[in-house]
Amino acid sequence: MNRVQVTPRSYPTNLIDKDWGNRKLFYTKDSENFLRLVHDMKLRDDDVWIVTLPKCGTTWMQELLWLLLNNCDFEGALAKDQELRTPFLEFGYSVFHDPNRSFGPIEDLKSPRLIKSHLSLALLPSKLWEGKNKVIYVSRNPLDSYVSRYYHGVSFGFNYGKSLHQYFDEVLASDDFPTEFIEHAHEFYQLRNEPWVFYTSFEMMKKDLRGVINDVSRFLNKPINDQQMEKLLKHLSFAEMKKNPTTNHLWELAQVQHENAGKEMHPFVRRGDVNGYKDELKPEQIEKANVRIQEVLAKNGVTLDELLLLKDQ
Ligand code: A3P
Repeated sequence: MNRVQVTPRSYPTNLIDKDWGNRKLFYTKDSENFLRLVHDMKLRDDDVWIVTLPKCGTTWMQELLWLLLNNCDFEGALAKDQELRTPFLEFGYSVFHDPNRSFGPIEDLKSPRLIKSHLSLALLPSKLWEGKNKVIYVSRNPLDSYVSRYYHGVSFGFNYGKSLHQYFDEVLASDDFPTEFIEHAHEFYQLRNEPWVFYTSFEMMKKDLRGVINDVSRFLNKPINDQQMEKLLKHLSFAEMKKNPTTNHLWELAQVQHENAGKEMHPFVRRGDVNGYKDELKPEQIEKANVRIQEVLAKNGVTLDELLLLKDQ
């Protein structure tokens, strides 16, 4: 991968007291200008952000957030690709290497804007660190996320021709597995009690979607009635989202210029399980990965159950 270590212009030292100088951050080579523009990005007071690592349930939560911010306009949601209703900050730049392709669609959006990013806290706009905008974070078991990333990569071309086991051996061979994953989530976990942060997990959404919907609606100050709740539960169900063309990232797929994009397709809303990795990865891969995960968790002083909200808080 064409990723290099990057140093942001400043760090969120007001939010988390840690040795930021030792926080290794990576991004695509030659992206200093884009990252500087993100760092200095102007925000509107009512912008809402969804921040996650890839394949952690972003689309699922994003659909809920968009609906809550738009008076449960189900017709509107079904009429337009999700990526056009709520843009992914890094997408346009990563495909076209042109920052305007990232910022343009966001600037053109009517308020309240819902913006998606996979950037870690230190690479996000520094304005966010002031705590005036609402941020929703969704974590997930790293192994489920990596398995999901593999299938996404096959559909989008960059993992085409590679087996899941080959892909995961490469993940295991990389130096930063799983440091970036754990630190990305842990930083937001540490902010979970801030009034501007709503921290949840894919696992919580699977366990109690109704509860998460209630909590998010309170967090955004967007009350819903019983009928809207029932409609939300249906619209957000795995079966409905799987067959919904606007939530399967077909628009993004059409933009991607990889020569192998679309040659072998896996649905974006694919399996939707907790711990599905257990029957997809080899036992020895799982064992190796878990040793590394436990090491990094211990260094950060947090457990996986805590990051996934599976332990009483
Ligand atoms: P799997 O590939 O494990 O099935 P993201 O949107 O962050 O890329 O996350 C994609 C993952 O969320 C995929 O995981 C997808 O199936 C799952 N997902 C999306 N909508 C879902 C839903 N309504 N219920 C359960 N899982 C869902």
